[in-house]
Amino acid sequence: MSSEIGKIWCIVPAAGIGLRFGENRPKQYLPFRSSTIIDTTIKTLLLCTSLEKVIVCLHPDDEHAQQSDFIKHPRVHVVIGGNQRSDSVLNGLQSIQTDTAKQDWVLVHDAARPCVRLADINKLISEAQTHQQGSILAVPIHDTIKEVDNELAVRTLDRTKLWRALTPQLFKLSDIQGALLSAKKQSRVVTDEASAIEQLGLPVRIVEGHADNIKITVPADLQLANMYMDQQEEQSCA
Ligand code: CTP
Ligand code: MG
Repeated sequence: MSSEIGKIWCIVPAAGIGLRFGENRPKQYLPFRSSTIIDTTIKTLLLCTSLEKVIVCLHPDDEHAQQSDFIKHPRVHVVIGGNQRSDSVLNGLQSIQTDTAKQDWVLVHDAARPCVRLADINKLISEAQTHQQGSILAVPIHDTIKEVDNELAVRTLDRTKLWRALTPQLFKLSDIQGALLSAKKQSRVVTDEASAIEQLGLPVRIVEGHADNIKITVPADLQLANMYMDQQEEQSCA
């Protein structure tokens, strides 16, 4: 039965250099809680028993993975990433090609999102499999959003239709591979898997996640993430 449902492979893009964060090492290797950002992220992913393997995409000049906890885990495999985030994901997909079947799924989660909750990962998997549709975690936008041109607001967007896309994002293996290859062929920049899938006209189901699943981009995000983790720990003790 389980072979008909398909396995779920996890890909973690972690080949970025953290230019906007501006530290002396890629942001995913900065200290966070009792370990690092990337070890915190991967620890949560490994708690998800539905995930077959966790494929971590690393920069070709990575000097930090060997000192990390994740590298020692039997369910973790590492591959070399690419120039763009989408190239890193494509390399991850390539690396599992011989182990996968047509009905398998791929869950992609940024190394730079350490506050993701296991409950949200499981919710995403359950929704995607129930509806048999590619699905992403997202949160509704509460702010009023302006389209700006030359420092002038030209339009107010209808916020009732706006959601902030997070990761993880979960797609059928064949869809995600086809979508990312097609975007690459046409030199279209895609900042997440969902945008490549949308460009092919395929559905992307929105699953509401927690807003604290932020991506660490600049130093202020790290303080915020720390606070969110304190809150999560308090809630789990309550
Ligand atoms: N990533 C990747 N391969 C790349 C670029 C990014 O695997 N060529 C990964 C990053 O390591 C991160 C995730 O994709 O986990 C989201 O990217 P982003 O937040 O942009 O991280 P960086 O590219 O490292 O940061 P910056 O854009 O500020 O340099
Ligand atoms: Mg980047």
